Amino acid sequence: MIGILRDVQALAASYQTMISDIQTPAELDQLRSQLLGKTSVVAKALGSLKSIPIEQKRELGAAANQLSRQIESALAAQQAIVSQAKDDDLPPIDFSQPIQSVHQAGHMHPTQVVLSEVYDIFTRLGFAVVDGPEIETDWYNFEVLNMPADHPAREMQDTFYIESDEGHPPLVPRTHTSASQIRYMEEHEPPFKVIVPGKVYRNEDEDRTHMWSFYQVEGLVVGEGVSMADLKGTLLHVMKELFGDSTKIRFRPSFFPYTEPSVEVDVWYQDEWLEICGAGMVHADVLERGGIDSERFTGFAFGFGPDRLTMIRYGLKDIRILWRPNMLVSKQA
Ligand code: DAH
Repeated sequence: MIGILRDVQALAASYQTMISDIQTPAELDQLRSQLLGKTSVVAKALGSLKSIPIEQKRELGAAANQLSRQIESALAAQQAIVSQAKDDDLPPIDFSQPIQSVHQAGHMHPTQVVLSEVYDIFTRLGFAVVDGPEIETDWYNFEVLNMPADHPAREMQDTFYIESDEGHPPLVPRTHTSASQIRYMEEHEPPFKVIVPGKVYRNEDEDRTHMWSFYQVEGLVVGEGVSMADLKGTLLHVMKELFGDSTKIRFRPSFFPYTEPSVEVDVWYQDEWLEICGAGMVHADVLERGGIDSERFTGFAFGFGPDRLTMIRYGLKDIRILWRPNMLVSKQA
C-alpha cells in the first residue's frame, strides 16, 4: 500500500478525537488548517492523484474525499459547541435591569388581546365561556337553525363540506358559532348566559374584509322574561367597555332564520357607524328544538367577529394581516 493512503487511513481513525478535544475558536481555526490546509494529509493525497496509477488513484481519491467531508462536518459541529461555550462566558444576566428587549420576546396576537378582554367583560356580566366543536354536523350548523338543505340563507355561508360515511349527513367545518346554540340548550336548563368563541370557516374568496377562516363569538341568553332591551343593554355595555364610554350602538332590522326579530348591530366609532354584529331574539322553533319551553322562556342571541373588533381597535385596514405570520402586527398589540 502506498504511504499516503496509510496516512489518510490513520487520520480517518484519529481526526474525531483531535477535533473533539478543541475548546476555543482560535484553536479550532488552527486545527482546520492543519487538517485541510495546503500541507495537510488530505491535500497531499488529493495532490498526488495525478501521478499515481489508475487503480491506486480510485482508492486513494475516494478515501481522501470522504475524509475531507467528514472532517468538515466534525469541524462545523465542534464550532457550534465552542461558540456556545463562548456565550456561556458572557457576564451573568442582571435581572434587576429594566427589560429592554421584551418586544423581541413574542406577543399576544392582537385578536387574542381583544378576545381576552371580551372574556373578561362577559364573565363580569355572569356569562360562562364555553366551547363547541369546529367540525359540525349539517344538522347543528344549519338544520336546527331553520336552514334546511334548500334554504337560500345557506348560500351566504357556503362552506367546505366533508364527506361522511354512507347514510350519514355531511359534516361541515362550522360556518358560524351559532352552531353551538342548540348543543348548549340540549345539555342545560335555563336560565343561562353563555358565550361561545371560536374559529369558523367559509368558502370565501379572501379580500380586505373577508377570510375563509375567522373568529366569532356567539352569545346566548335564555331565561324568563328575557327581552330585546336586555340584548341592547348587554351589547351597549360590552361595546362601551371595548371602545370607551361615549360609544353608541344602533339596531337595524335584519333577517336570520334563527332569530325573530333579527337585527344588525352598528357601533358609532370615530364618527362613523360600523357594522359589528348580527343578533336577535331566539326563534321559538330553535328553543323548542333545544328542548326549551318557548311559552315560558325567551332568549336573545348574537354573533360578532373579534377580528373585526381588532381591526377597528387597532385601525387595521386589511383582515388578512391578522392571519399571516407578521411580527409587526403582533408588536402593535
Ligand atoms: N351567525 C351569524 C353569522 O355568522 C351571526 C348571528 C346573527 C349570530 C344573529 C346570532 C344571531 O346568534 O342571533 O353571520
